[in-house]
Order: sequence, then structure tokens, then C-alpha cells
Amino acid sequence: MIRVGLVGCGGIMGAHLPGWRAVEGRAVVTAACDVSADNAKKRADELGGTAAVYADWKQMLADDKVDAVDIALPHKFHRDAIVDAAEAGKHVLTEKPLCTSLQEAEDIEAAVKANNVTLMCAHNQMFEPAPRTARKWIKDGRIGRVFSLRTIDCFLAGAARQAPGAWGWRATASEAGGGCALDTGYHPTYMLISIANSDPKEVVSMSDNYNQPFLDAEDTAQTMVRFASGAVGTLQTSWGYPNPNGHWQIHAIGELGQIYGRGNTLHFQPMEGEVESHDLAPENGFVGEIKHFVDCIENGTTPEQGLHEGITVLKVILGGYQSEKEKRVIQI
Ligand SMILES: NC(=O)c1ccc[n+]([C@@H]2O[C@H](COP(=O)([O-])OP(=O)(O)OC[C@H]3O[C@@H](n4cnc5c(N)ncnc54)[C@H](O)[C@@H]3O)[C@@H](O)[C@H]2O)c1
Repeated sequence: MIRVGLVGCGGIMGAHLPGWRAVEGRAVVTAACDVSADNAKKRADELGGTAAVYADWKQMLADDKVDAVDIALPHKFHRDAIVDAAEAGKHVLTEKPLCTSLQEAEDIEAAVKANNVTLMCAHNQMFEPAPRTARKWIKDGRIGRVFSLRTIDCFLAGAARQAPGAWGWRATASEAGGGCALDTGYHPTYMLISIANSDPKEVVSMSDNYNQPFLDAEDTAQTMVRFASGAVGTLQTSWGYPNPNGHWQIHAIGELGQIYGRGNTLHFQPMEGEVESHDLAPENGFVGEIKHFVDCIENGTTPEQGLHEGITVLKVILGGYQSEKEKRVIQI
């Protein structure tokens, strides 16, 4: 039985709880940590009230009833919490972004490797049916050589964000490590890389803040990535407007046709011929990622979205910021 400590019991940790319930009998949450005692207690209570509550993750890591941690902290704490957990010999599932700089990523890589623990990045949308199946179909060669890829994750952060202080720790790039590109933009970036099945080589990005006056960072970014395979990907992310009509969560075009879809629906259109539409078995991405994390710990296998994938996503996003600052295409 894998014993798990939650670190950061705010908004998104609520979405992880169905995942921990789904692996009952294989893993159990034994501890919940948050500087807010109310938040830690709330999550512990939602899981039956047996988890020990901590305010300091270092004390929680000293608990010998914890084998693994699930981290959902503000971005500036990711590096320290992951390194401390690895050094305490705990396996790590971490929310995105892995961290906020390449130096931090190096520290994480060194600690994870030195302590031989499993690190998985919580790239939840790769456990949703359409992106997951698209990746498999593309890997299996269904569209042949890939020419073009597109991924999207946009939503209008609404009335609740239209007030001073409403963005909390996300309000400034200096606190959060970046704006929408590093935060929600992480999802279309890992999807683009995952469905490309190829290493990103070049990146260029443009961003702006169109619609969020109380956010001191970009609320929108559009990024282009060239892969080693020659395929070119485009991603769009925004907190300033909703998903554009007529576009898909993922879309790939290759020499034999196109694959596109979202959620539980995926379409395949041969280069010449009728569209095939597939209704896929529903899966909650957060549940899927937690099942995969538990599988990896039990079997000693490397997570599909692990250290390498987390660092690669970070390189693309930070390269995008650099491209904008220096007005040039960045080599990754
Ligand atoms: N996968 C997704 O779709 C998704 C969605 C939202 C957020 N996230 C990610 O989850 C993480 C958390 O985001 P959130 O929206 O839940 O934020 P949040 O502000 O709602 O929650 C963060 C929690 O961390 C606690 N905290 C802050 N400093 C702490 C410390 N030093 N020690 C212990 N606890 C501390 C806060 O009290 C709060 O309860 C971020 O990395 C974010 O990017 C992912």
C-alpha cells in the first residue's frame, strides 16, 4: 500500500481527490499539508478524516507513514518541495509547471536521480481520451509523416478575476514565474510535444495581456514549435478569451490524413475519403494520471510524463518567453 501526503490543499487538489479514491486498496492518503490549516483539514475530511494534518511540508516529509507526495503548490515553491521530497526518499507527483527556471529543473533532476525516486508531472490532459488516443494513433503511423500540429487551451477568466488582488499569487510574473503561457499554457505545450512524438528544436512565441487588468503578466500566448521530425506545431492559450469556435483541443495533419478532436471524441479523416468519428470511453484526466503514478511506483516503471517530459515542456515555454524578449527564433 502506497501512503501519500498531499502538499498544497487549495483549488486543484480538490480535482485530485477522485483519483486517490479510485486507487483505494493500492494507495491511501495519510497526510495533508497546507499553510492554511482550514485547507489541509478540508481535504483530509473529504478523504474520511484519517490523514494527519501538517502546516510545514518538511515535518510531513519526516513522517514515516508517507511514501509519496502529491504537490499542488504555488509555482515558486515547486523546486524546494520536490527537492525536499526526493531527498527524503519520497516519490513525487507534481502539478505543472515542474518549476520556473532551468536552474531549478537541474536541481530537481539531480535530487530525483541521486535519491532514485519516481517523479511524475501531472500532465492531466494527456490522460484524457482524445489527446491520449491521438498520440497512440500518430505513433502507430495512422497519418504517416506528421506535417502540422495544433493544440489549444483557452478560457475567459471571468468576473471573479476583475478586481484588485483577485489573481492571488498568480498576479505577477515575478511571483508565479510567468503568466498564462507557463500556467494554463503548460497543457497545450505538453500535448503538442506528446502528440508530435518528436523532440522540439525551435520555438517562437508572441503574447499579450488583452483582457485582464489585474494580472501583471500575459493573459494570452501563441507559440510555434519546430520538431526534429520537421513537423511544425502551433499552440494557443488564453485567460482573456474562450476557446476559439471551430478549433479542436488537438489537431494533427500528416501525409495520410488528419486526426482531430477533444474530450471523448476523436475524428480521423483520410487524405481522400470520409471522416470516421470515434466516441472514446470517458476517463477523467486527473484520475488517469493518479492511476498511472501508482502503476509506476508499484512496477518501478518510468512515468510516461516524467522528469524528461516536464523539463522539455519548460524549455519550450521559457524559450518562448526568450524569443519574445529577443525578437528571434530560439534553438532548444
Ligand atoms: N492541472 C490543472 O488543470 C491545474 C489547474 C489549476 C492549478 N494547477 C496547478 O496546481 C498548483 C496549485 O494551484 P491552485 O490553483 O490549486 O492554487 P491555490 O492557491 O488554490 O492552492 C495552493 C495551496 O497551497 C497552499 N500553500 C501556499 N504556500 C504553501 C506552503 N509554503 N506550504 C504549504 N502550502 C502552501 C495555499 O494555502 C493553497 O491552499 C499550481 O502549480 C497550478 O499551476 C493545475
